[in-house]
Amino acid sequence: PGFNEPGMGRAGVPQGEAAPRSVQDWWPNVVDLSRLRQNEYNPDPNGAEFDYAGEFAKLDLKAVKADIDAALTDSQSWWPADYGNYAGLFIRLAWHSAGTYRSGDGRGGSDGGQIRFEPLNSWPDNGNLDKARRVLWPVKQKYGASLSWSDLIILSGNVALENTGLKTYGFAGGRVDAWEPELVYWGPEAKFLTSERNAEGEDLDNPLGATEMGLIYVNPEGPEGNPDILKSAQQIRTTFARMGMDDEETAALIVGGHTIGKMHGAHKAAGCIGKEPAAEGVEAQGLGWKNSCGTGAGPDAITSGLEGAWTATPVTWSSNYLDNLYAFEWKLTTSPAGAKQWEPENADQVTFVPDAHDAETFHPPVMLTTDLALRYDPAYGEITSRWVKNPAEMDEAFARAWFKLTHRDMGPKMRYVGAEVPAEDLIWQDPLPRADYAMIEAGDVAALKDSIRQTGLSGSELVRTAWASAVTFRDTDMRGGANGARIRLAPQKDWGVNDPETIAKVVTALEGVQAGFNARSGAKQVSIADLVVLGGAVAIEDAAKAAGHSVNVPFTPGRVDATDAHTDAASFELLRPAADGFRNFYSPRARRSPSEMLIDQADTLTLSVPEMTVLVAGMRALDANAGQAKHGVFTDRPGTLSNDFFVNLLDMGNEWKPAATEGLYEGRDRTSGAMKWTATEVDLVFGSNSELRAVAEVYAFEGGEDKFVADFVTAWNKVMMLDRFDLR
Ligand code: HEM
Repeated sequence: PGFNEPGMGRAGVPQGEAAPRSVQDWWPNVVDLSRLRQNEYNPDPNGAEFDYAGEFAKLDLKAVKADIDAALTDSQSWWPADYGNYAGLFIRLAWHSAGTYRSGDGRGGSDGGQIRFEPLNSWPDNGNLDKARRVLWPVKQKYGASLSWSDLIILSGNVALENTGLKTYGFAGGRVDAWEPELVYWGPEAKFLTSERNAEGEDLDNPLGATEMGLIYVNPEGPEGNPDILKSAQQIRTTFARMGMDDEETAALIVGGHTIGKMHGAHKAAGCIGKEPAAEGVEAQGLGWKNSCGTGAGPDAITSGLEGAWTATPVTWSSNYLDNLYAFEWKLTTSPAGAKQWEPENADQVTFVPDAHDAETFHPPVMLTTDLALRYDPAYGEITSRWVKNPAEMDEAFARAWFKLTHRDMGPKMRYVGAEVPAEDLIWQDPLPRADYAMIEAGDVAALKDSIRQTGLSGSELVRTAWASAVTFRDTDMRGGANGARIRLAPQKDWGVNDPETIAKVVTALEGVQAGFNARSGAKQVSIADLVVLGGAVAIEDAAKAAGHSVNVPFTPGRVDATDAHTDAASFELLRPAADGFRNFYSPRARRSPSEMLIDQADTLTLSVPEMTVLVAGMRALDANAGQAKHGVFTDRPGTLSNDFFVNLLDMGNEWKPAATEGLYEGRDRTSGAMKWTATEVDLVFGSNSELRAVAEVYAFEGGEDKFVADFVTAWNKVMMLDRFDLR
């Protein structure tokens, strides 16, 4: 809430029924800039200069792991450990922390430790994970700022798995904690555990990764509580694919996850369970789901309402999950809490699962509808029946899929820290080659700029190409960006928004510059990735000069060129912009209004409101729209870095009206009626939205052009440098 999303519960609350609290409550169509405002300040109490990766690197990882391992079996009276070991709880905590990741927009995931904050902290699916973090608090307290919650949560999952006997694939630290909830669109529903997200003819509204509000993935009892195994398999496939997991990875994750731990549904929730953390009183101290039945924990615990364990050894790694899945015919039954789950036909005769708190008592194994999907869905069945015969293959698949699940949103391997970073490069890390040549230096730049000028490429061509190469970056999962020059590879080179012919022309010309330089420079070489960015700098310096400003666009060499072998084309397709307001591009794939799409993109580029504002205006001045469309190019001297965009937008001599073509507007001279400019919503919003207009005014001031040019250059360089993790 507070994030303007069509259908969000608070938008358009009828007046009188609830006190409106935000501008968007009163006027749902006013774009909400809150997400960009989050980029304008740093709420980290450790200070903006705090170098988390550096601090984590100094930790003795073995000692940290030993402390977590000790916590696993240090059962607390206020939340007794099942089987005397918190392994299941810690693994579920790590999984739910990472499992919100969605590949469509890179949001969610463990990075930031968002599970500590609302809404995730109070999601029904995250029931009792508040306890898991309190069990871990002494470890967190001991290592303080050197061990982020986000790293600790994932590391605890690894230590738990290792404690049970699994050989994990590796662990990387480096997740920096957030200090407030990230404003993420989690779905249109205003009520938990409801679903209104299945667009006509589509499985699940993109980019959402779960089937119901408040769930990490799917309903364990089956679609909308229906124990339909094959439909459940379909939902699992859709939602896990949204995280970039294939069938084999999906099956491995569920098999491996449910090899350990148990479910909790000792009693019906109604009459026993209190409110979620965010709805509790201060005396609850941030804990929720207070259980007033029996001892309120341990044997009386209620989490999901499902009850039982999958294996005979819930705190020891084994192949028993798959053995059980295939050994029995399963019949539908209900948990003590009334939830639908499955038990063996001959449940009475197969009571080999120990009780979690009473050494004398044994139970039959249980399965969820979603677990049975792994046997009865033909594709999952093919995979799991292979693993029953070869458990070592499953263990390896799980270890790798777990590593991917828990590291997927950290971005390139350069960001990984610590002694357990695996050596192997993985394709989902979007690897870059290591340069086997000497990099160009500051002294080479002037000559390269001259060579670029001699190609005869236009400023618009150079700017569009540099922008296209850098703008794929998204800080939500640190993917994309100019490094690697993937702009010249499939799929990027063929995206309509990139004007493929322009890209091909520019890349060919820059390859000429590269060949010339490399031939005469000895050991030094220049990458296309660097030349693309340098080309943008050349164009901007020349355009500023044409407007009477002498500027030096910062340029930091050191980028390398990736090849197709480094590039998972299908995964890069996820970075294709559905809209790019900076290039005045909007496609039917966009699921929100042009201005909301602009804000969203500016957010993934970590831009502030002023940075977004100068970049849009500068791109118009530089004539850098996709397809060189003229919308928003409010200037008689396109290709010149002037502040004309702002001056003309705020000129009361113009009158704007919608044009015949939907989405376009015409600006006419108020007196003569002569047509002057055309524009889109993305252009006009800088004059219509009161907060954006306030910023636009600053750049339209008389004498405001110097500031505009300087701010544009700074913001441009920021975008070009977003993926330079090699320098941090
Ligand atoms: C427990 C559902 C996938 C790991 C549970 C519980 C449910 C559930 C209902 C019981 C929670 C409770 O009452 O305490 C599902 C569904 C999945 C899924 C529907 C996807 C289709 C996974 C994955 C992992 C995992 C991918 C890890 C890789 C665990 C663990 C527990 C658990 C370790 C035991 C928690 C404990 O012992 O306290 N799951 N799960 N699950 N799940 Fe899953």
